[in-house]
Amino acid sequence: MEDSGCGIEPEHLDKIFKPFFTTKQELSGTGLGLAVSLGIIEKHGGTIAVDSTLARGSVFTVTLPIMPQMNGSLEQSTIG
Ligand SMILES: Nc1ncnc2c1ncn2[C@@H]1O[C@H](COP(=O)(O)OP(=O)(O)OP(=O)(O)O)[C@@H](O)[C@H]1O
Ligand SMILES: [Mg+2]
Repeated sequence: MEDSGCGIEPEHLDKIFKPFFTTKQELSGTGLGLAVSLGIIEKHGGTIAVDSTLARGSVFTVTLPIMPQMNGSLEQSTIG
């Protein structure tokens, strides 16, 4: 997912996935959006990464395994 928004301060990048971290004004953000997203993605064996440039925008890249419990089998069948 990519946007052309305000971008994220470099010193915030290691905090944005923490619960309740928000730069939104009081009462307008819970700081839970990315923390909940990370939790759901990790439960599915995936990852989320962020790349952001101030005043240009942000890119969030989510990767999800097709069938996490069968990764080994799928690799073996591809090779074999
Ligand atoms: N696309 C984005 N562009 C710029 N900053 C972002 C973006 N997504 C997240 N952030 C930064 O990460 C912080 C945490 O994001 P998160 O989604 O967890 O909470 P929130 O957006 O502040 O609150 P809520 O999700 O409840 O609306 C934001 O407050 C903001 O500083
Ligand atoms: Mg949010």
